[in-house]
Amino acid sequence: MKDFLDTSDLTPQLVTDLLDRAERFLPLTTIADQLGAPLRGKHLVTLFSEASTRTRTSFELAAKRLGMKVVNIVVGMSSLAKGETLRDTILTLDAMMPDVVVVRHAVAGVPHFMARFSKAHFINAGDGEHEHPTQALLDAFTLRRHFGRLEGLEVAILGDICHSRVARSNVRLLAMMGAHVRLGGPRTLRAPGIEHFANGWSGTVQVSASLREALTNADAVMVLRIQQERLDGAFFPSLGEYFAHFGLTSERLAWAKPNALVLHPGPINREVEIASEVADGAQSVIQKQVTHGVAVRMALLEWLVHQEATPREPALRQTHGQSESGHQNAPGGGTRAATTPTYAVSVTERGQPAHGL
Ligand code: NCD
Repeated sequence: MKDFLDTSDLTPQLVTDLLDRAERFLPLTTIADQLGAPLRGKHLVTLFSEASTRTRTSFELAAKRLGMKVVNIVVGMSSLAKGETLRDTILTLDAMMPDVVVVRHAVAGVPHFMARFSKAHFINAGDGEHEHPTQALLDAFTLRRHFGRLEGLEVAILGDICHSRVARSNVRLLAMMGAHVRLGGPRTLRAPGIEHFANGWSGTVQVSASLREALTNADAVMVLRIQQERLDGAFFPSLGEYFAHFGLTSERLAWAKPNALVLHPGPINREVEIASEVADGAQSVIQKQVTHGVAVRMALLEWLVHQEATPREPALRQTHGQSESGHQNAPGGGTRAATTPTYAVSVTERGQPAHGL
């Protein structure tokens, strides 16, 4: 797999493998020395055209903990602001041969478009209202760490489903892993057709008739931010009204199972979609999600770079005592990072980008 752009790039086996790998990276403060900077000499570029605190920082910390050098491009300060096209921007970047480019853009599909013009690995860090696949991976990691499984979990996702890339990525990934998702919130913020994301997977997705129905007996509750920057219509009368009818308060949380887990991708809007008492309460794992995000992104970066590099270096693989089959490092094939210590492929040896739109 060259790029990681959507949850549909995943399989249950690959999700399990990446989450297992992330477990190795979780002791974030102690692991750096033991890791020996497995991606030293590699370069990561972040290209963000939307506000971000946690996702951009999380990728940067993950990359640095793996020994990568990081360059951050703020789109408002780049040549895009001088009228350069996305295609020319990425061709320019590609000429400098970064190994990984992490893109966030307000328009759906931009990371996919850019990836076609580049030899670098591309990771989608959120494209418009479409997908945010690393958020879904870190949410799955958080759920699996707590419950020991994803299969059979009842997960309520509440709020602005319509404008939420986090909802879309989570719905697909959770259904893929056999969880049962109930979507709750105002009718005006539903996403018609989202139930079909579960087609072909063992999990299910159900649009609940009421908040109470979505929450009843839920093992975990994922609250979404009201995407005010994307609300260009009158979806509800006011933020106060929204909180009054749909905000997650302690009383409403009590409809879920006792000790149900509370997740939120952040940034949270207190007293809009979630009450402070819930966000800061004992059932909340919002800060843990942020910590887990670094481990999951470390696992993804290491896997993405190595799984391509290793089959291209048969001689190196042999020196590490691995078979020549190439299957060990195929996407989805459960290779442990500890058995793939090959870091020597230069960017010039990568496959050519698929040019031509
Ligand atoms: C989310 C995003 O940007 O899509 N935040 C995040 O990445 N942690 C959710 C949001 O902005 O509401």
